[in-house]
Amino acid sequence: MTTRQSTHPVAAQFLDRSSPRAFSGKKLTAQDIETIVEGARWAPSASNKQPWHFAYSINGDANWQAFSTIPNEFNRRWCLNAGALLVVLSDKQSATHSFDTGCAWGYLALQAHAMGLATHAMAGIELDAARQVLQLDDNWKVECLVAIGERGDKSSLPADLAEREVPSPRKPLSEILSAGPLA
Ligand SMILES: Cc1cc2nc3c(=O)[nH]c(=O)nc-3n(C[C@H](O)[C@H](O)[C@H](O)COP(=O)(O)O)c2cc1C
Repeated sequence: MTTRQSTHPVAAQFLDRSSPRAFSGKKLTAQDIETIVEGARWAPSASNKQPWHFAYSINGDANWQAFSTIPNEFNRRWCLNAGALLVVLSDKQSATHSFDTGCAWGYLALQAHAMGLATHAMAGIELDAARQVLQLDDNWKVECLVAIGERGDKSSLPADLAEREVPSPRKPLSEILSAGPLA
């Protein structure tokens, strides 16, 4: 249950989804990841090009150590307790690759939420490490890394991060919406 309040009635998933840093450490299964990415798979994209790819490692599997080099120092403090790490890639050969892949990430986050799991996207990553671990050619843009898993207790976090473990607010609608041109 959320403490967030919307100014207009929206589906509960939009208020209830949030990005924790406390994860329980419970490993996800390949089936969990496949179901979560199935959500992303049904996102709309320009000309239905689906210019995205998702590469994952489950906590402790053969690729985990390599994936652990992808988050930056700040994110490494908390995200290695996630059940899995997943890298979101977009294919630059499509003009709308980032827009489309952003939508797919949103679907992924909501699918995970519907399964009782949490996601936390990270732009704070070591880009060279990501490109090397995933052996990417120049067509792929690394969009972000996502921690996925069961929520943990915020007391498991360092004090400065535990303090920040609260649902975030949003700008008022009036600031992001205009009938006609921007004021
Ligand atoms: C593309 C993207 C990059 C982000 N990068 C980071 C990050 O590097 N580290 C971090 O702790 N949170 C990161 N976040 C989480 C945002 O800070 C968070 O989504 C935002 O404050 C809204 O909070 P909520 O997701 O709980 O609603 C990122 C989120 C997105 C969508």
